[in-house]
Amino acid sequence: MTDDSSNASNRPAGGGQAMWGGRFSDRPDALMQAINVSIGFDRRLAPQDLAGSRAHAAMLLKQGVISSADEAAIQQGLNAIEAEIASGAFPFREEFEDIHMNVEARLRELIGPAAGWLHTARSRNDQVALDFRMWVRDACAGAQAQIVALQRALLTQAEAHAETLLPGFTHLQPAQPVTFGHHMMAYVEMFGRDASRFADAAARMNESPLGAAALAGSPFPIDRQATASALGFDRPTANSLDSVSARDFALEALAAATICATHLSRLAEEIVLWMTPQFGFVKLSDAFTTGSSIMPQKKNPDAAELVRAKAGRLLGAFTQLVVVMKGLPLAYSKDMQEDKVPTFEAFDALELSLSAMAGMVADLTPNVERMAAAAGAGFSTATDLADWLVRELGLPFRDAHHVTGAAVKRAEDAGYDLAGLPLIDLQALEPRITAGVYEVLTPLASVVSRRSYGGTAPDQVRAQVARWKELLR
Ligand code: ARG
Repeated sequence: MTDDSSNASNRPAGGGQAMWGGRFSDRPDALMQAINVSIGFDRRLAPQDLAGSRAHAAMLLKQGVISSADEAAIQQGLNAIEAEIASGAFPFREEFEDIHMNVEARLRELIGPAAGWLHTARSRNDQVALDFRMWVRDACAGAQAQIVALQRALLTQAEAHAETLLPGFTHLQPAQPVTFGHHMMAYVEMFGRDASRFADAAARMNESPLGAAALAGSPFPIDRQATASALGFDRPTANSLDSVSARDFALEALAAATICATHLSRLAEEIVLWMTPQFGFVKLSDAFTTGSSIMPQKKNPDAAELVRAKAGRLLGAFTQLVVVMKGLPLAYSKDMQEDKVPTFEAFDALELSLSAMAGMVADLTPNVERMAAAAGAGFSTATDLADWLVRELGLPFRDAHHVTGAAVKRAEDAGYDLAGLPLIDLQALEPRITAGVYEVLTPLASVVSRRSYGGTAPDQVRAQVARWKELLR
């Protein structure tokens, strides 16, 4: 590709003639190169680019499009490039714009004219669509594996704390007692759905665009099925225009990533709250906290705060790519080069967030006494009293709710919690109430009684822990 005999004025800054330089007599303005160049970020696609080129060359040989000598030279050159990239010796050069042309230019330097056969029946349009799809597919698999690690950490906490009381909140007001294990398992469910969203997205995107060429397909007798299966795809894409234009695979992955980051952010927020002296529900070790440069007493949950904030980055990345894609006519437009930065940034942020959260969850020490005391505060067993009135006395629930409300008011006025309210006070509201009612008024009794499927009873929590352990095996 580097035509060294060309007129010096043809050359883009830095040396070689551009790959597409045939019909150009002037070199691009420095600003043209500055806005056009993508090697600074798309070099991350090097492994996918090499894999795609290997499969393409092998297919071209099999189909009789290129000679075996040229194919062998190409494969050898691609191996050498892979080694150079691994050792850090590969020259990533801005004058070759992107990863695709950097690889091809280097191939030409290493093996000579045989390199010119590699781009037969291919365009950078299907090449980048392929590389990026493979990258996103890998990112989805990586996120799934990390989610499983996080779920395992949550399961360990849930199993250890299946009976540990925790106030359950609605409106962040004390609602009903739950267990810490049950709370951990709520996140296991959320992250399970996140993992399945990544799996769905990865399955849907698993079609190879290679061979769509620029946009219309190829006149060469290529075998798209062969390259698709060599690269781990289920099948080739069925429309060449769509193949080079579609980026919804990345949007879908970013949407899944954003939802996952939202779940991480909610858990992070709970850790931040629980860590305050006012809550005092959990402790993180020095490993996941930082100090203050001025206030010696501080232990700040910075990692949780940063996980909470990263959700913003992920949504930003998703929004960025949606806006890039909306209104783009078919087929390829250079706008689509802007798909990579937000996607890479989003998955980097997600990777770090998932690791940090798995670390924090494993590191958490719940303050069992403190959580139990809080679980009983705020008349959290009022619903249990109402349910008792329904069950034992046959009161309609609305009436039971009313009697219970009056009992809470009485207890509050007298400075008792519900379990401390004397029987005569209860009987003043409903004469048929017996001492048996006190059995349901403790937080532990409340929790143990909630045995409905998926409820907070320790037995139910243990059953869900067992089910998930099996699922994650
Ligand atoms: N660097 C380009 C991108 O990321 C590769 C495709 C370029 N295709 C083209 N027709 N200019 O989208």
